Amino acid sequence: MDDSRETFGPKAFVTGFPVKHSRSPLIHGYWLKTLDLPGSYRAHEVAPEAFADFIRRLKDGSSGFVGGNVTIPHKELAFRLADNPDALSRELGATNTLWLEDGVLHATNTDGRGFTANLDERHPGWDRHGIAVIFGAGGASRAIIQAVRDRGFKEIHVVNRTVKRAHELADRFGPKVHAHPAGALAEVMKGAGLFVNTTSLGMDGEVAPKLDFTPLAAEAVVTDIVYVPLKTPILAQAQEQGFPIVDGLGMLLHQAVPGFEKWFGKRPVVDAALRALIIADVEAH
Ligand code: ATR
Repeated sequence: MDDSRETFGPKAFVTGFPVKHSRSPLIHGYWLKTLDLPGSYRAHEVAPEAFADFIRRLKDGSSGFVGGNVTIPHKELAFRLADNPDALSRELGATNTLWLEDGVLHATNTDGRGFTANLDERHPGWDRHGIAVIFGAGGASRAIIQAVRDRGFKEIHVVNRTVKRAHELADRFGPKVHAHPAGALAEVMKGAGLFVNTTSLGMDGEVAPKLDFTPLAAEAVVTDIVYVPLKTPILAQAQEQGFPIVDGLGMLLHQAVPGFEKWFGKRPVVDAALRALIIADVEAH
């Protein structure tokens, strides 16, 4: 079945520049295989200057793709070039998931859904406190702020080294979102039930600063969007201090679900074997 699966089914892509680090082909390839569906999902590197032409060929059907994922640095341009971006991607000004329907290019952003689905799976009740601290104000924090707000949190504190970026996000996402400089971290952690690291601190073996999580609410959960390593230095510290932790791998897996369903017609499930497959790949590199 393998050859015919790839030859005859819908074709989807992940595009970025570079894109070879992407684990999305492994994820979608696993689902195509285990659900025994025809189709292919491939990494497709496109340089920034060639991206508009790539989207033109997607729209006119000449590329043969039904849609795909978009990663750095194309998320903003893909959003602007889409015919019908949904409300989530319009507020973010960025998309990570595109699909064609009757020649119309639709766009959404699934990172926020990936974030909440991961916590729902691994730590049900994570949202009951209604107060969150989001550490970092880069591109990755936006979808998380949006998702936490849409989940009904009443206070969202964005803390960032460059406070101007935190203020930009507070302005974008409305009155529940408050901006703070890094020095305010201990203060805003008081009583919060969710701490999310969206900074690159501790990624790929980098040293992370010492953080004191004890001001958080007693039943608070700490999560990180970085998944290499799986237990980041920030998560390790939180665990040592007695807090439950949720790693970032599930966000990557769950954000892939809506796209797969659009392109290949069946809703896939994030299971333990998929998680193990990606962990093995991370460990091999
Ligand atoms: P992404 O789009 O992946 O979120 P980014 O836009 O480069 O990446 O943002 C990285 C985040 O990590 C930012 O919040 C950044 O803080 P600044 O806005 O002040 O740059 C944060 N970050 C990176 N290195 C940091 C460090 N050494 N100390 C504190 N924050 C850091």
